[in-house]
Amino acid sequence: MKEIAVIGFGVVGGGVVSLIDENASYIREAVGEDVSVKYILDLRDFPDSPYADRVVHDAEVIFSDPAVSLVVETMGGVHPALEFSSKALACGKHVVTSNKELVAKHGAELMALAKEHGAAYLYEASVGGGIPLIRSMRTSLAGDRIDCVNGILNGTTNYILTRMRDGGISFEEALAEAQELGYAEKNPAADIHGLDAQRKIMILCAVATGYIVDESNVYTETMSKITVADIEAARRLGGAVRLIGSFRREEKGVAISVCPRIVPAGNPLSDINDVYNGMSVASRLTGDVLYYGRGAGRYPTAGAVISDVISALNGSYQRESNRTWEIAPADFVCDFAESRSRVYIRVSDAPRGEILDSASLLLGDLEVPAGTPEGKTEFVTGMLPEKQIAEAIRSLPGTVESVLRFLA
Ligand code: HSE
Repeated sequence: MKEIAVIGFGVVGGGVVSLIDENASYIREAVGEDVSVKYILDLRDFPDSPYADRVVHDAEVIFSDPAVSLVVETMGGVHPALEFSSKALACGKHVVTSNKELVAKHGAELMALAKEHGAAYLYEASVGGGIPLIRSMRTSLAGDRIDCVNGILNGTTNYILTRMRDGGISFEEALAEAQELGYAEKNPAADIHGLDAQRKIMILCAVATGYIVDESNVYTETMSKITVADIEAARRLGGAVRLIGSFRREEKGVAISVCPRIVPAGNPLSDINDVYNGMSVASRLTGDVLYYGRGAGRYPTAGAVISDVISALNGSYQRESNRTWEIAPADFVCDFAESRSRVYIRVSDAPRGEILDSASLLLGDLEVPAGTPEGKTEFVTGMLPEKQIAEAIRSLPGTVESVLRFLA
């Protein structure tokens, strides 16, 4: 019998505990013996839960019990998840997590600690919920070199953007709807300002390259400034606005960013709607591979956690490509200002001829779409350095209402 503990009895932790019960026979088959949850650590009591007798409030009970071979950390946040995970690994217990913030910020040290103590630190559920992405990148693509990942990594914001397009409603209305449906948190800041997607693209970049970058090196833009006018413009240009987490190996290093982009029709990411996630992973030998599915939610995420529990307990993690991460050196990420983008720009409060003359001088050849609303001027640039685009925006006459990058 393998005994485990679950730290954090919330949406995902609760799903893990109940799935371990419901799927006991196939988990036994996969692990080779029964798996049972011995302790659940939470600040709260759950008197009405069938698992009430397993709830403890002192983490030491778990660390000091040699019968516990694995800890599932589903509490989220950095503290005290970091201290609990470190202590469990130092005691030689495997740790399985869904906590993307912790993996992005401290994954490298936790993996090193796991290796030192002959344990596993596994994190399949930290990106893309139930989508089997990380193990697939680490194992099935291990013989290839992953050069680029573009992903819709946040379900809440994808729901908001889909509703703004299909329902013609504002960002605020779509956010309220997402909150009512339980998709968005009461405080949705990490979702809408791109921090959730930032952590996820940092993790995917590290899985692909072995280097974890600092969050300050990920160019990150909020999607809360997207308007229905932007969504309409994208539609007229033959695309859809999506919040894209992206990393790409370039000549001078890795370009890594999270920002709203116009995804051209024909790119499968433009058709990923509602709370779904999608990731396009491009590798040298295979070309594009697309992953799609439920990127959040109790059971999809709990299922991903359980796949890691099985891998840690039956030892298969040792046979997988299980390299640890290094902290990325200073020159690993290229300067965002030096990277190149093709952008859509909308300007008001100045005569159209004056805006276009000035834009052509500053930005070269422009594409001017049909159907521009009265009183606005719109254009699309060629591929240009970010620095040049930023300087032009400061110099254009009128008011720049919107600047949206295309997904290349
Ligand atoms: N808030 C996240 C999302 C949950 O909306 O995608 C899953 O990480």
